[in-house]
Amino acid sequence: MANQQKNKKSTATALAPSNIAIVKYWGKKGVQEPVNPSISFTLSEAQTKTTVQHISTKENLKLEFYFQGDKKPAFIPKLETLTNRLKAYLPFLNKGLLTIESSNTFPHSSGIASSASSMASMAHAFLEIQKNIDPDCLDTDQNKLLSEMARLGSGSSCRSTMKGWVLWGKTALIEQSSNRYGLSINDHVHPIFNELEDSILVIRKGVKAVSSTVGHQLMDQHPYAAGRIEQANSNINKLLKALQTGDFNAFSQVCEEEAMSLHGLMMSSSPSYTLLAPESIRAIEQIKKFKEQNQVQLTFTLDAGPNLHLIYPKSQSKIVVPFIETHLKPLCENQEVIYDRIAVK
Ligand code: DP6
Repeated sequence: MANQQKNKKSTATALAPSNIAIVKYWGKKGVQEPVNPSISFTLSEAQTKTTVQHISTKENLKLEFYFQGDKKPAFIPKLETLTNRLKAYLPFLNKGLLTIESSNTFPHSSGIASSASSMASMAHAFLEIQKNIDPDCLDTDQNKLLSEMARLGSGSSCRSTMKGWVLWGKTALIEQSSNRYGLSINDHVHPIFNELEDSILVIRKGVKAVSSTVGHQLMDQHPYAAGRIEQANSNINKLLKALQTGDFNAFSQVCEEEAMSLHGLMMSSSPSYTLLAPESIRAIEQIKKFKEQNQVQLTFTLDAGPNLHLIYPKSQSKIVVPFIETHLKPLCENQEVIYDRIAVK
């Protein structure tokens, strides 16, 4: 009785954006390190908000997770893996009761990558709790630390801990690049690429048949693995040049090649699979035809799913938006198109 101690409570809330990769991360090595560098930009509207509450106890860490207000025990194993990996950085994760509540500002299962924003916001909230409890154990660069911790939850999420254009993965072209964390490359980017629109065609809303994590694993034995790594490195070089010089045509070529190659790799994996829907292909055909017939700066990319991201400078909205509304919206499930854009500081 006499040694009964009051349990300390600490809470933190953090927001993080989703991101869309132009050069794709596809294949891993070690603990969540990429086999090739990738480049993405963060989105403005699509974000995840996470509130974390930690109550100190003498027991080993216990976790509870809520998504949009509902308890989700199915996520606990993934979160246990994350908290086990993060204990080395954040000692408070060794013991206590941890309650995590996340919600998205965008529709669930809309095809917008939610693991990136959710892991980045969670890592940020964890970091804030550690700062509340004992900031002295955090003497490293906190931006790098945050990105690295997010990566340990989901690779692409290390590109969601900062705004705008982010490079993740070692490339000889940029000295400070790293496989461990994302690096902001906004200083290397021409102004036209800071005003990009990203309009998302929600072709299918449902959960994907094959997760990205499984897709990454299939790259380990993929017959085209070496060629893919070479292609990605070459596309990083081309993309960095296009971003620097403001060359939209070169940007568009890399963007579309990466999108189609990603899905080509899925189709040529063993076992093979496809995540594209018939409407995804029809939308791609329509976009290509529209680009042939009009002087327009417009390109598209795909994530690991059937939904298309149409990317274009803001100046092109007058011509692109009516095209989307008339020709592409009817291809979407419930006619759903999400109009988002790059988030730059
Ligand atoms: C196609 O980051 O979702 O979106 O590290 O297993 O969580 P895990 O995978 P994830 O993979 C994203 C793959 C991609 C391309 C990209 O965002 O670079």
